[in-house]
Amino acid sequence: MMLELEIGAVAHGGHCVARHDGRVIFVRHALPGERVLARITEERKGYLRADAVEILLPSPDRVIPPCPFSGPGACGGCDWQHAAPDAQRRMKSQVLSEQLARLAGFSASVPVEALPGGALGWRTRVQYAVDDEGRAGFHRHRSAEVVPVDRCRIAHPAIQALPVTGRRWPPGSTVEAVAASGGETAVLTRAGRSGALTGPPVRVREVAAGHEWSVDAGGFWQVHPHAVETFTGTVLDMLRPAAGERAWDLYGGVGLFAATIAPHCGPVTVVEGDRRAVAAGRKALRDLPDVRFVNGDVAATIANPRWRSVDLVVLDPPRAGAGREVVSSIAARSPRAIAYVACDPAAFARDAGLLLGLGYELSQVRAFDSFPMTQHFETIGLFSRS
Ligand SMILES: C[S@@+](CC[C@H](N)C(=O)[O-])C[C@H]1O[C@@H](n2cnc3c(N)ncnc32)[C@H](O)[C@@H]1O
Repeated sequence: MMLELEIGAVAHGGHCVARHDGRVIFVRHALPGERVLARITEERKGYLRADAVEILLPSPDRVIPPCPFSGPGACGGCDWQHAAPDAQRRMKSQVLSEQLARLAGFSASVPVEALPGGALGWRTRVQYAVDDEGRAGFHRHRSAEVVPVDRCRIAHPAIQALPVTGRRWPPGSTVEAVAASGGETAVLTRAGRSGALTGPPVRVREVAAGHEWSVDAGGFWQVHPHAVETFTGTVLDMLRPAAGERAWDLYGGVGLFAATIAPHCGPVTVVEGDRRAVAAGRKALRDLPDVRFVNGDVAATIANPRWRSVDLVVLDPPRAGAGREVVSSIAARSPRAIAYVACDPAAFARDAGLLLGLGYELSQVRAFDSFPMTQHFETIGLFSRS
């Protein structure tokens, strides 16, 4: 079904909101203020989804997408190829304000800051899906269908140069390409959609905060080449750690934030669930005797009453956020400051609402466009005891 729609505000999820006959429609490939012809792609109980297929009245923010594989029905990897980069950041800022207002009752207008390097060629970790003919590409939006590509324009040049898209792979497998900060590249293959590795694990060198980690190529590391320096600098600046202060680095991975704050404070305890990340962290940070790693689930670990008071917390959970149990355990220890690093504004706003209700104030918020062309961005908030 096709509808002519007036496009309203941007919403969380990489789409804009329109209304028709009293129903809400989430429209991809459109921009606020546009009039478009839209094809309905999905009908749900309370709302519809649609793709703008013809732009009747374009926004001044509309540009020709630099990637020929973006657009309705094509690669689902990027959401905002059709928007100028500064407009992408304005929309992300609006999403953050809206989520904070709705989920935390907090009013703020936070600019989303660009990272150096432009909107293309930044992604240092790329996961390709493989189609039935063995060609590497990306899934269509909300679909298992694979769109083969010649190269991914947002991938780092070192990844675009890897022989991934020019050859055939086992149909249905997953191929991961990595360009590490230490200069190495790696290609991993997995059975099925993100299944077990089909080859031996590969390690790459990542360099940051005066340290060098040998990490699993398939493990977590920030994907934008300037994300690590930006996020660690922001966390350090917000927390202002002082000599002797005790700190927790929760969901700490290989201890990136611990390595950043440890030279300025007292003992730092990293809690991380991935055994291999903990092993890599212990090895890389062995010259920091005040950094201790605990391999375990964050909620279960810090619920232990033997984990007494703490002055500073870095909280960097996965997309789902930290949640009530973790947030309550932290607040019960009354740290002076919490730096919350979030890749999902909704999860950040939900947890912010909990912290505001537990005697904390959100004293600083910054946001960074560490995922240009996509709906994603990073938010870092400083929560202080009110
Ligand atoms: C967003 S990453 C942050 C990693 C690290 N702070 C960094 O910047 O490199 C989230 C980390 O949380 C870990 N993780 C996810 N769920 C966890 C849980 N319930 N308990 C402990 N660690 C968890 C993941 O293994 C991952 O390393």
